[in-house]
Amino acid sequence: MNHRCPAPVFRRWPALLPALALLFAAAADAATLASVSSPGNVLTVTLESQHEDRLAYRVERNGEAVIAPSRLGFLLGDGRLERNLQLIDQSQRSFDETWEQPWGERRLTRNHYNELRASFAEKAAGGRKTGRRFDVVFRVYDDGVGFRYEFPKQPGDDNEVRVRQELTEFAIARPATVWWIPAFEWNREEYLYSRTPLAQVGIAQTPLTLRTDDGLHLSIHEAALVDYAGMNLAKGDGGVLRAALTPGGGDRGTAVVRTAPFTTPWRTIQVGARAGDLAESSLILNLNEPNRIGDVSWFTPAKYAGVWWSLHLEQETWGTGPKHGATTANTKRYIDFAAQNGFRGVLVEGWNPGWDGDWFANGWGFDFTRPTADFDLEALAKYGAGKGVHLIGHHETACAVSHYERQLPAALELYARNGVDVVKTGYVCDAGDIQRQDRENGPVVREWHEGQWMSNHHLRVLEAAAKRHIAINSHEPIKDTGLRRTYPNWVSREGARGMEFNAWGNPPNPPEHEATLAFTRMLGGPMDYTPGIVSLKGRGGQQIPSTLAKQLALYVVLYSPIQMVADLPEHYAEHPDAFQFIKDVAVDWEESHVLNGEVGEYVTFVRKARGGEEWFLGSAGGAQAHDLQAPLSFLDAGRRYRAEIYRDGERADWKTAPFEFVRETREVRSTDTLPLHLAAGGGQAIRFVPIDPPAR
Ligand code: NOJ
Ligand code: CA
Repeated sequence: MNHRCPAPVFRRWPALLPALALLFAAAADAATLASVSSPGNVLTVTLESQHEDRLAYRVERNGEAVIAPSRLGFLLGDGRLERNLQLIDQSQRSFDETWEQPWGERRLTRNHYNELRASFAEKAAGGRKTGRRFDVVFRVYDDGVGFRYEFPKQPGDDNEVRVRQELTEFAIARPATVWWIPAFEWNREEYLYSRTPLAQVGIAQTPLTLRTDDGLHLSIHEAALVDYAGMNLAKGDGGVLRAALTPGGGDRGTAVVRTAPFTTPWRTIQVGARAGDLAESSLILNLNEPNRIGDVSWFTPAKYAGVWWSLHLEQETWGTGPKHGATTANTKRYIDFAAQNGFRGVLVEGWNPGWDGDWFANGWGFDFTRPTADFDLEALAKYGAGKGVHLIGHHETACAVSHYERQLPAALELYARNGVDVVKTGYVCDAGDIQRQDRENGPVVREWHEGQWMSNHHLRVLEAAAKRHIAINSHEPIKDTGLRRTYPNWVSREGARGMEFNAWGNPPNPPEHEATLAFTRMLGGPMDYTPGIVSLKGRGGQQIPSTLAKQLALYVVLYSPIQMVADLPEHYAEHPDAFQFIKDVAVDWEESHVLNGEVGEYVTFVRKARGGEEWFLGSAGGAQAHDLQAPLSFLDAGRRYRAEIYRDGERADWKTAPFEFVRETREVRSTDTLPLHLAAGGGQAIRFVPIDPPAR
């Protein structure tokens, strides 16, 4: 869909005039160095040289500015790398391939871009005999732009590059509303999204989502965060957002230390007319490298139950004692529940020594290589295997990450021997309090969750796990930058406020939370949100801001190839109608589309089950009720389908009537349009089962 800006942008944003004056001053001696457009000519990136031979890029969509001239460069250990930059070479190429995801929101993904590579040499300056060298590479798609810096082997012998800060900017060319969470706060990524004018953004994490006043949707993020510090965004003058790299630990005073040749992660700008365009884009995945761990057909996308919600409700405990959740008998109960209902996995938290007492403070006491005395891992693994159920492992590190790494091979072997092929990891501690100890009894250095060292830690875990055919689901993770393409055993992660906040959060997740996540956090990749709390009650009976129908919709809205059936078995027994949808819903998809959506208000996804003929619809609302229309043109033409509808009743409202719920069946065709009534805090879920065989 083409977007047209109705009026020249700057006429509509008088506050920008001083910045504009500066811009024109700079532009006075700006010279275009190179320019590249997307395959469909929607987006154009122009690289220019400014005053003092600085470098800037800008982005236009259909000829109108989206990103105004924004500078590029670095603050390095041996000085600034931003002036006296000479273009020494440039080249362009086109690329178009369709690749297959082993599991995902869609089986086939088209990767179609035009690329510009521009090579720069710094004139010898600042006491340096030789100038430094780097390339900037832009990949321009119709729905977004990725660019990164590449440092080739440097002239002379010194190839160590210490990055104190990246000077990359994103100058948003139009006034905009932003959805963002703060960076560098103690609770990592687990904050409610603020919705503010661009001017009021502080230091934000990415993905950061913007809607310009004239209706364009943008997201700024990064792809392929490997051996580098995570990028945050600090608000500068006017519409400028500036890279703010996560610092390195200890007294290093440097965000990143690398040896050339190396590349930075891709800095990404997604651009779409609709909010749904952001959620449908494959830009982040496309900018990642192809699978490097080989065949992953051993990983089965699946639903899982487990000893989890009971812990957050404080009905059971992680630690041993009379209320211990991870006992052999209790786990058998969950295995039976999973087997009866067709769920492949059972997660058991609190199965290993280390939880007793204040586990938050006792990461160095965790033992990942043996179970507690009341948990017979081998017997349970066998019991599950007899019923087609696999245990899901759990490694909570409480941030004693080096301690965990030392045990990792033995810990993974133990699980592999017992048929555990998915492990949930955890890094509970304040952001920046990751404990790194390079040698036993050596000093302990504090690292950030989003820093360079942790970017490498996660890859060490993934590689060790892949060797043993184990998939990883990280909680309190580093942000998702699409590395599941390269490491398809990184199947899910948390990295936002999940359902646990509805057990004990103050406040719990508000009704608009999931319709915000769909266009913010989820742009990074799958989330282990752990939906399906059909009791709608948290700890002490606190009401969850959701209707029953919305809990079902979340299985379709918030994508993850492993989805928890998170509530207690006895609660599902009380809601057999709703539970039927949870049993039926698929977790792996042939294709996915966003029918409609507005950030933080509502969103409707439709997805076709992979390897099947069924479609599923999930629509999650926000604080207000909505009446939407769902055209069914995604269904096969000429075929009748049975629509199994799970919806909010007429009087449903999360505050006053959350269980007002209707399950009904209708016969539909692709030419039909279904009305979707979403109550306040509500939602709707539909399963479409073909009645007729496919047309020949
Ligand atoms: C936080 C995780 O998000 C949660 O799912 C888990 O139960 C606890 N940590 C304990 O590891
Ligand atoms: Ca968490």
